Amino acid sequence: MEEKEKQKQRAAEAAARHLQDDMTIGLGTGSTAYYLILEAGRMAKAGMRLKAVTTSKATEELARSHHISVILPEETDCVDLAIDGVDEIDREFRAVKGGGGALLREKIVASKAKEVIWIMDESKLVERLGAFPLAVEILPFGYAWTANAILDLGCAAKIRSQEGQQFHTDNGNQILDVTIPKELDYGRVAETIKGIPGVLETGYFDRACSRIIIGTSQGTEERVNPARKGSLLRIGGIINEE
Ligand code: A5P
Repeated sequence: MEEKEKQKQRAAEAAARHLQDDMTIGLGTGSTAYYLILEAGRMAKAGMRLKAVTTSKATEELARSHHISVILPEETDCVDLAIDGVDEIDREFRAVKGGGGALLREKIVASKAKEVIWIMDESKLVERLGAFPLAVEILPFGYAWTANAILDLGCAAKIRSQEGQQFHTDNGNQILDVTIPKELDYGRVAETIKGIPGVLETGYFDRACSRIIIGTSQGTEERVNPARKGSLLRIGGIINEE
């Protein structure tokens, strides 16, 4: 296995140690979340009772095939812990997600979770966001108008395609991959994009995680986001304060 994959796996396995019996979890999407689902599946097979809200059809299938009980968001009013990957993250815990196109569901699940852990290999840590395009989920209706409004902000934007076909999300929408020029304030532009009619969500996550776990060549490194420290983690009906 190549080094980057080992790092993803290490981060995922360290995150899985935060899983506890009877938890309702949010399962992310992507190649790092893949290792988490395998590990959570092993734990479920060994008897841990886990219920999962999944952020994509791919994750749902994988979870089901690994003994994890999948529920709909409507079936719970609480997600104890969401674990997901990122495309880029800076020192302030501002992140970009959506490389796999699951950003809208990922944001809904993260917003509902009492604790959010992002897992990654060390290449995801950056000094500043921007090398990886910002995924923006847009409604197909009026997509050219929506794209033009984003171009008017001074950004570059490209409709995502896959194997020569237009890419559609699990929600039936399109993705615009947006490049925000260095001289613009990234967070502010991302928020402005969010307000454009036709934009459903962006892959900009402003300090939404409680902690990150980075797989390294030696092991793992965990960093706690001070802005979300003290969040309540409800386990099996008991409220534990961190
Ligand atoms: C899915 O839409 C994404 O947000 C992923 O969580 C993100 O792209 C990280 O994916 P990898 O773990 O595959 O790098």
